[in-house]
Amino acid sequence: MTSPLPGAPWLARQGQDLVLDGCSLADLGQRFGTPLYVYSRRAMQAALSAYQRALSGRPHLVCYAMKANSALAVLQTFAQAGCGFDIVSAGELERVIAAGGDPAKTVFSGVGKRRADMHRALEAGVLCFNVESEAELDVLSEVAVAASRTARVSLRVNPDVDAGTHPYISTGLKGNKFGIAHESAVAAYRHAASLPGLEVTGIDFHIGSQITQVAPYLDALDRMLDLVEAVEAHGIRVHHLDLGGGLGITYTDESPPGADELVSRLIERIDARGHGHRTLMFEPGRSLVGNAGVLVTEVLYLKPGEVKNFCIVDAAMNDLVRPAMYEAWMAIEPCRQRTEPTLRWDVVGPVCESGDWLGRDRDLAVQPGDRLAVLSAGAYGMVMASNYNSRPRAAEVMVDNGQATLIREREDVRSLFAGEHLLPPKSPRSP
Ligand code: LLP
Repeated sequence: MTSPLPGAPWLARQGQDLVLDGCSLADLGQRFGTPLYVYSRRAMQAALSAYQRALSGRPHLVCYAMKANSALAVLQTFAQAGCGFDIVSAGELERVIAAGGDPAKTVFSGVGKRRADMHRALEAGVLCFNVESEAELDVLSEVAVAASRTARVSLRVNPDVDAGTHPYISTGLKGNKFGIAHESAVAAYRHAASLPGLEVTGIDFHIGSQITQVAPYLDALDRMLDLVEAVEAHGIRVHHLDLGGGLGITYTDESPPGADELVSRLIERIDARGHGHRTLMFEPGRSLVGNAGVLVTEVLYLKPGEVKNFCIVDAAMNDLVRPAMYEAWMAIEPCRQRTEPTLRWDVVGPVCESGDWLGRDRDLAVQPGDRLAVLSAGAYGMVMASNYNSRPRAAEVMVDNGQATLIREREDVRSLFAGEHLLPPKSPRSP
C-alpha cells in the first residue's frame, strides 16, 4: 500500500487482507453475503469525540445529521455517547426515538416541514426547529398554538458565502433554496418574536457539504455574529449559535481540517468577538460516519474490451449512488490482495444504465469471485439506496474491536412488492 487508506487507523491492510477494526472484509463478505455495508463503531466514536473534545468546557451540543446514515445501531452509538440529532423529517424523529436518542437533544431542520411533522415534533419535545422561511414561522406558530405548546425556534440564515464544493451540495449561496436571506433576517426575527406560538432561542447556518477549508466557515460566522448583534439590539435574545455541518472527509487527496481544528478556529473567532457565553451547536453528518464505513461487493464478471475493461460487480448505483449522482470519486480496494499485475478497469454494477458505475479507470488485479471494498461509504451510502431494478437493499454490519454484528438484514425481494395490489379480475360484462 503506497498511500494510507482513508479511514485509518480503523482500516488497514494486514498481510493480503483489508481489515476494518479487527475484521477481515473478505471474511465478512463471505459470511453475510454481498453487497454489504460494514461500519466501525470505534471510528464513529472517535470522530464524535474530536468535536466533543474541542467543545469541552463550554455549553455545547453536537447534533449528528442523521441523514448521512440513519441505521438504528449508528444512532444508538451516538446517543450513548451523549450526542443529539439533526433531523429533517418525522420519519427521522421516529428513528431517534427507536434508537434510544433524546428528542430534547434533537433539532428539526429542513425547508419543507409539514404540519403533521411539526405537531409530532412538538409532542415529542424537540429542542428546537431550524426555520427556513417567514411562511414556515407562521405555520409553526399556528400548529404550536393549536397544540397548546411553544415551539423553540432558530432561524437558518443564508449567509451568501461560497463553500467551494459541488453545486448540488452547496447550500449557503443566494441562489440556493435554503435559509432566510441575510438581508431579511432581522425582520424575520422580529416577526418570530411577535408570534404567539414561538420562542426565539437561536440562529443557525449550514453552507454546504464536503467543505475542506476553514475560511468559508469563518466568513459565514462573521456574518452570523453581525446579525446576532443586530437582532439583540431589538431586544430579542439569541441563546445558541448552530454552525451547521459540512466538514469534509478524505476520499482521495483532500486534506480537510480535523474537527478539533475547525471547532477551535471558530471558537477563537467567537470569543474574540465577545460571543463566548453562547451555547455552541454543530450538525455534522459525513465527518462522523463517512470514513467509518465501506461497501463490500463481489466481482461477477470481467469483460475486457477494446476501449474499456469492465469489472462487473454485484453492487450498483441503487446501493451507492454518489458516483452516478455527483461523479464522486470513492477509493476501491481489493478485500484480499492478489500478487498478479494490475489492469485498468471501470468498476460497474448490473443496473441497466451507463451511469451505473462505482469507479472509473481503477488499477486492480481482480478475478471473478473476488471481493472489493468501496471506501468512505459510511455517509450518504445506504441512506440513498433505492430498489431500482427491483434490487433488494444491502445488509449492514457493525464491527467493534473484532466483533461483527448484523445491524440490518438484507432486504427480502417479496417485501419490495408487499404493499402493491393487482387490479381486480375483469368482470364478464366489461368490454
Ligand atoms: N445540516 C443541514 C441542515 C444539512 O442540510 C446537512 C446536509 C448537514 C447538516 C450535514 O452535512 P454534512 O456534515 O454531512 O456535510 N448526499 C450528498 C450530501 C448532502 C448533504 C445534505 N445536507 C453527498 O452524498 O455528498
